[in-house]
Amino acid sequence: MKLARFSRIGFILAAAGSAVGLGNIWKFPYITGEYGGGAFVLIYLLTVLFIGFSIMIAEMLIGYMGRSDTVTSFEKLAPKHKELWKFGGFQGLAGLFIMIFYSVVIGWIFHYIVTSLFYLPSSVAEAELRFSTMLHSDFFTQLFYHTLAFIGITYVLHRGIKGGIEKLNMILMPSLMLILLGMFAYAVSLDSFSRSVSFMFSADFSKIDSEAFVAAVGHAFFTLSLGMGAIMTYSASMQKNENLVTNAFWVVFLDTSIAIVAGLMLFTFLYQYGSGPAKGPGLVFISLPAAFYEMGIIGNFFAVLFFLALAFAGLTSAVSLTEPMVQYFIDRFHFSRLKASLAMGLFFYLFGIVALLSNIEGFQETLTWGGKSFFDWVDHVTAAIMLPLGGLVMALFIGFRVEKSRVEAVLKHQLGFAFEAWYFSLRYITPIAMVFVMLNLLGVFN
Ligand code: PHE
Repeated sequence: MKLARFSRIGFILAAAGSAVGLGNIWKFPYITGEYGGGAFVLIYLLTVLFIGFSIMIAEMLIGYMGRSDTVTSFEKLAPKHKELWKFGGFQGLAGLFIMIFYSVVIGWIFHYIVTSLFYLPSSVAEAELRFSTMLHSDFFTQLFYHTLAFIGITYVLHRGIKGGIEKLNMILMPSLMLILLGMFAYAVSLDSFSRSVSFMFSADFSKIDSEAFVAAVGHAFFTLSLGMGAIMTYSASMQKNENLVTNAFWVVFLDTSIAIVAGLMLFTFLYQYGSGPAKGPGLVFISLPAAFYEMGIIGNFFAVLFFLALAFAGLTSAVSLTEPMVQYFIDRFHFSRLKASLAMGLFFYLFGIVALLSNIEGFQETLTWGGKSFFDWVDHVTAAIMLPLGGLVMALFIGFRVEKSRVEAVLKHQLGFAFEAWYFSLRYITPIAMVFVMLNLLGVFN
């Protein structure tokens, strides 16, 4: 039984804090670059609107009605076959697995905050060398910052919903928005802003194939924090009588606008000072620092602020990725919060070290299977299998298992005339899209 509840604004900021993460500021711009801009953005926006939004409501509903950790919530709400449906709750595990690499990436960001203060690479080649040196040979730097991330995240989790998670989000989310808006305002004043707008919004459908489509759907899920129990676990601590639809709207709205603002800003900087829209995961760690260098001294200032914002986004998501399993051990095994936070923290910390090692020369070969390092495997398995599976299970659970009358009792007046459309999308559109994503990512169509 939970006692601590989020305040209304606390819930929205925490859920938005979960959604707004490395996915928005690091991943969205680089996959947009990879898939050629506008058309990809359009598919992503449509997915967010038609699939993401409805799954967000469903996930909030399970948490809100279940009022427990994810496993117990599924078990409570299933009208029959409870022992089977409770496995639906194990989607919380996906978050913990994601933390294995998420914490390492947050560590890189910490490192970049510190170094950007006095050093920026003077060319893309130099930036690339610096990044790959860190990645492939600098074990101790990575370990040091990964350790800091572990300590910070575990500390916040052990403080609980109110004093830890809500507080963290109440401070970091407004700061993040302020930093981004400030930098965005500067970007708008630059000549290249209009090029950036047309890159992101003029659709060239020739670049879109099933792979781009799947990437857009997969990303919509990842960025909205769906299918991993994060939103569900937070929703279990929502106040009674809150409007799930309004809350879901705010989370989706904030997440999407922050991704767009970050994308427009980064592409403007890259057009103005760098080599145009870069591709690949190195975008913010390689092309961007080189572009900041070209700005002169203000570039250092901007670089520090930017990586700070990125760290804020990452930390608020990291906490939400770990909380479902923390809650699970508290509810089911009566762990104290401290013990549960430490146990889950140590899990991602230790496996994180393995992930980190899997990129280091000398260890790389032992930790690579089938052409993918351990680091990449964790990313692939969570994104290709666990996350769409979580979405599928939730859609089928609310769409076909939980009695419609119970769903209506909460959502009918909140959704109004849109209720049936939502229900339909949950029953048919979402499951089909999820299966398609899984098959594609598993390479069935290649
Ligand atoms: N939404 C977060 C991001 O965009 C990642 C995340 C996924 C967080 C799932 C929590 C749960 O980076």
